Amino acid sequence: MSKEENNIIVSGMRPTGRLHLGNYHGALKNWVDLQDKYKCYFFVADLHALTTAYDRTENIANNSYEMVIDWLTAGLDSKKCTLFIQSHIPQVSELNLLLGMITPVGWLLRNPSYKEQLTEIFKKKYAGQEANIKIERAEQREGGVVQLSQKVTLAGGLSELTEQELNELAVYGFLGYPVLMATDILIHKASMVPVGQDQVAHLEIARDIVRRFKDIYHSDILVEPKPLLTKVSRVPGLDGRKMSKSYNNTIELGEDVDAVRKKVMTMFTDPNKKRANDPGNPDGCVVFSFHKIYNPDYEKRCAECKAGALGCVQCKKDLFAFMEPEVKEFNEKRKIFSSDRAEIEKLLQGEAKEAMRSAQVTLDEVRKTMRLA
Ligand code: TRP
Repeated sequence: MSKEENNIIVSGMRPTGRLHLGNYHGALKNWVDLQDKYKCYFFVADLHALTTAYDRTENIANNSYEMVIDWLTAGLDSKKCTLFIQSHIPQVSELNLLLGMITPVGWLLRNPSYKEQLTEIFKKKYAGQEANIKIERAEQREGGVVQLSQKVTLAGGLSELTEQELNELAVYGFLGYPVLMATDILIHKASMVPVGQDQVAHLEIARDIVRRFKDIYHSDILVEPKPLLTKVSRVPGLDGRKMSKSYNNTIELGEDVDAVRKKVMTMFTDPNKKRANDPGNPDGCVVFSFHKIYNPDYEKRCAECKAGALGCVQCKKDLFAFMEPEVKEFNEKRKIFSSDRAEIEKLLQGEAKEAMRSAQVTLDEVRKTMRLA
């Protein structure tokens, strides 16, 4: 199939370590489809990880490689897309600096995820205190100058963060997160960015940066990126909460076949369906969220459950039978990809070259536009 060349796609994921089926169905599978249709750049956002976890870097490299292995396992193919590790592309850091020169701090302070993520950092720092953190931000005008101030309190009067603590936690790189993300996108002139709803505010900042660049330098070289909010499937964790490593309710991509079979048998079901022949409610049943993806006869299965025609144990066995070919394929592919780290490193070196080439083009244009010598 020939690709639609007018649209370029960029997206990234933070190196959180091994991916699970929630990540696969929620994002990665969509990337695998996109690589056939568009020119795509997919990268491990290891510099983004540093914006919050700069003091916990011991796993960052390993997590980055594991993530690339998961991508290959899921079907991303370096012949079809460019996959790389963000920090391997020095042009990103240079353009980040240049774009940072024109980005007003006010935009970054107002960014909603700045506040949310700051809260996460505080929570980690004050883990165990059940901290309910309140961040108040005030804008005051004094003699025509806007004064921004922030007050951070932990509920229950546990403690109040001092100005100094706040300043230490809220690092410069973290505030600049949206500039870095804008850089990732603009450096390849992407027009579409597949992301979740949570990233849309960041993309808005990227668009604002493009417009500001245009206003200041009268230049059209940067492209305004749009979010690509493709409908993706959400699968819950085994216990019905969001699938997440921290809840210990995941099925990993490439996990051992028998382990997955066991996990499927532990999935939460409708608690009111106690006996095999009780009628059940598929809504909110974890097994059914998976049937919806893996079972081609999903509607029929729902009707059978509601009629009390089959028990949950059988329903789980059937689900696994539908999942098994994919589970097996991923498990086998993952074993092969993870058996040769040197091969992965070699692949990434080649990919980085292509990403650097594309990045350098934009960087040269920006340097020229900003009239650097
Ligand atoms: N911020 C994104 C996340 O946390 C990751 C990311 C970094 C990204 N740079 C990007 C996504 C550029 C899309 C495009 O999920």
